[in-house]
Amino acid sequence: MLDVKTRFDASARAVLHHGDCRDLLAEIGSDTIQLVVTSPPYNVGKAYEAKKSLDIYLREQALIIGECVRVLSPSGSLCWQVGNYVEKGKAGNIVPLDIALYPIFAGLGLKLRNRIVWHFEHGLHCTRRLSGRYETICWFTKSDEYHFELDPIRVPQKYPGKKHFKGPKAGQYSCNPLGKNPGDVWVIPNVKNNHVEKTNHPCQFPIELVERLVLSLSKPDDWVLDPYAGVGTTLAAAVRCGRRGAGAELLREYADVAVERVRAAAAGELRVRARNTPVYDPADAGSTLTRSPWTSSSPAADSPVVGQAPREGKPVLRSEQLRLLEERQSY
Ligand SMILES: C[S@@+](CC[C@H](N)C(=O)[O-])C[C@H]1O[C@@H](n2cnc3c(N)ncnc32)[C@H](O)[C@@H]1O
Repeated sequence: MLDVKTRFDASARAVLHHGDCRDLLAEIGSDTIQLVVTSPPYNVGKAYEAKKSLDIYLREQALIIGECVRVLSPSGSLCWQVGNYVEKGKAGNIVPLDIALYPIFAGLGLKLRNRIVWHFEHGLHCTRRLSGRYETICWFTKSDEYHFELDPIRVPQKYPGKKHFKGPKAGQYSCNPLGKNPGDVWVIPNVKNNHVEKTNHPCQFPIELVERLVLSLSKPDDWVLDPYAGVGTTLAAAVRCGRRGAGAELLREYADVAVERVRAAAAGELRVRARNTPVYDPADAGSTLTRSPWTSSSPAADSPVVGQAPREGKPVLRSEQLRLLEERQSY
């Protein structure tokens, strides 16, 4: 079983400090960490955070970010994943935290390489604004001599059989056989109730999201740090990819799960959603719930929703939907 240390030890494979990240950071020497991947508290009043004014929040973040930059190696990267801070009130102003935090990173001399949009489909259903369905990951580097490898994170081509049709390369395949650049919009399901990776944490990272960063921005045996480790997704992803993982988590209920997950990752037993699995489409999966009984104006019980192409061979409506339809048609 992997020995997960509780204090930073450069010879270890994994360190999980149950406590404040400032204490862990203080133990790490300058220029030690190749990659920081984290999602800090967003100051939105989750169970694990006390909501404070935006000014105070940003000042506290500046201290932690400063420490993360100190421990980062000159070829290293820092990926800060955030969403929106919502001001008080029923329909308060939203403040995209990456915009608010950007001056802190820039002031420390970091260079922004990508602002990755992470799109997911599950979340709160807003009634007075559009429901939020993306967050961002700002990828910064400490210098211009940064480590970046594209090949391990290429994704399948849309048209892998496409060939050049003219010129000196006519007849040859026109795309990279290893796959294409994944781009800066990542469609990866967030970890909600039925997700195979779900734990007791309300907002854990999907493993795949972290693995893309780990595989492209670090090398085997490098240190990957998450100062706000939660249930240890960053560490588990690092260990799965043959890197070392370090992190801190304030709450015991998450820190304990983090240690278990890191050990399971080391043993090859962590349950994960396989990389590049297409997003689940209930209609393609044949769910009978994808036809609405409310919007159909056709007398045919199984007519498709207006504007939606009929799908061949799909099961007809469930009995409850049929009953509702019949009720409507009898008005
Ligand atoms: C957004 S969650 C991160 C979840 C994580 N990405 C995962 O996959 O599980 C932020 C976490 O930071 C922890 N936290 C908040 N302040 C902290 C601090 N000063 N030091 C260490 N952990 C802290 C919270 O308890 C919470 O679990």
